[in-house]
Amino acid sequence: MKLPLPTRRHAFLALLSCAALLGVGLVTANNTDDALLERARGLFKPLPHTAHVDDYPHSPARVELGRKLFFETRVSSDGRTGCVSCHSPSYYGADSLPTSVGVHGKLLPRNAHTVFNTPLLIAQHYGGNRVSVEEQALKALTSPLAYGNKSFDEAEAKLRDLGYTPLFDEAFPNEKEPVTAEHWAVAIGAFERTLLTPAPFDAYLKGDQRAISADAKRGLDKFMTVGCAGCHAGSTVGGHSFQKFGLTEDYWKATGSVEMPLFKGRDMGKFHDTGKEEDKWMFKVPQLRNVAMTPPYFHDGSVATLDDAVRIMARLQLGRQLADQDVKDIVAFLHTLTGDIPAHFAQAPVLPVAPFRKP
Ligand code: HEC
Ligand code: HEC
Repeated sequence: MKLPLPTRRHAFLALLSCAALLGVGLVTANNTDDALLERARGLFKPLPHTAHVDDYPHSPARVELGRKLFFETRVSSDGRTGCVSCHSPSYYGADSLPTSVGVHGKLLPRNAHTVFNTPLLIAQHYGGNRVSVEEQALKALTSPLAYGNKSFDEAEAKLRDLGYTPLFDEAFPNEKEPVTAEHWAVAIGAFERTLLTPAPFDAYLKGDQRAISADAKRGLDKFMTVGCAGCHAGSTVGGHSFQKFGLTEDYWKATGSVEMPLFKGRDMGKFHDTGKEEDKWMFKVPQLRNVAMTPPYFHDGSVATLDDAVRIMARLQLGRQLADQDVKDIVAFLHTLTGDIPAHFAQAPVLPVAPFRKP
């Protein structure tokens, strides 16, 4: 059908203005996307390539020894507990339990963090009572809840017995006494410092706009706008400060946390380590890398789902009630922090062969 001339002109003009509008639309979308990336770059950084530091020199032999020791359970007092028991490749370097089960089935009062990316954090543990991953590994050996050894001597004797001497020799050449608790800690630290998990969010921060979905971008925007990034920022999206858990109300009213016998009541965080009044209820802000893969949540695993954890954070830390759509978007953003499990962590190493001895 032939349209009358004026109508044809109108149709043409309408088409033109549509195209103009679309064009403007596209430009605005790009500008908004670029502005979001710019804001994100101001608060977050991609993960570095390595977490090794000059204080702890490393070598392939040292990392490999650390890998073996991480998976070694025969050094514990029940012969069955090792780092891997509570930081398993099957659960993204954590253990999936609300609170961990230690040597001789003892119940720990806290939820296990993932071991991925932890050397980059301000300190280790919720109370920050370990300055480095090396100190953490050293003290685990004689912790009555973790390895349960009475002394470092006892642990060192077990390592020699198990046939580790040549491996320590190779990892710590020219040392008079290669098999020591300190070297155990340095080797495990060398291994942990390789466990970084770059994720789609890193690709995005490096400029790949398509690395994360539109939902995740809306979530990232919300995460920054409502103030989550005030505490969860940097390359690990958290882990760089201690903050009061429960700024607007007591945390246990929202989480349902129970009293812990070991703390003789509620978990008061850093206060248990320092005894200082100002440290009451202060907890290390956890990193949010791989958070979607490491439920349950909070220091005692009292909250089962990420949706609920996000809602509770908004309420307790920011005094806000998030709309369902905002929670969904923030969770979509948090999923972009899931990286691949490092291959040398995913596969268990072969350990020295030793005769079975009753622990
Ligand atoms: C019985 C279970 C268990 C064993 C065994 C264990 N851990 Fe843990 N790990 C935990 C728990 C629980 C926490 C949290 C403790 C806290 O915050 O007070 C934790 C915390 C950590 C952290 C701190 C992470 C952070 O974000 O602060 C690191 C690192 C770590 N463990 C590494 C290791 C290594 C290495 C070994 C072996 C030498 C080991 N763990 C053995 C349960 C365990
Ligand atoms: C004022 C500081 C602060 C703000 C703001 C904040 N958080 Fe947190 N966040 C913390 C602290 C502290 C913890 C650890 C609490 C605990 O378990 O003791 C935490 C824990 C979490 C956890 C649980 C992590 C895990 O592995 O168990 C998630 C998820 C989380 N925050 C997300 C968010 C989101 C989303 C927002 C914004 C709505 C937010 N946080 C705002 C300080 C903060």
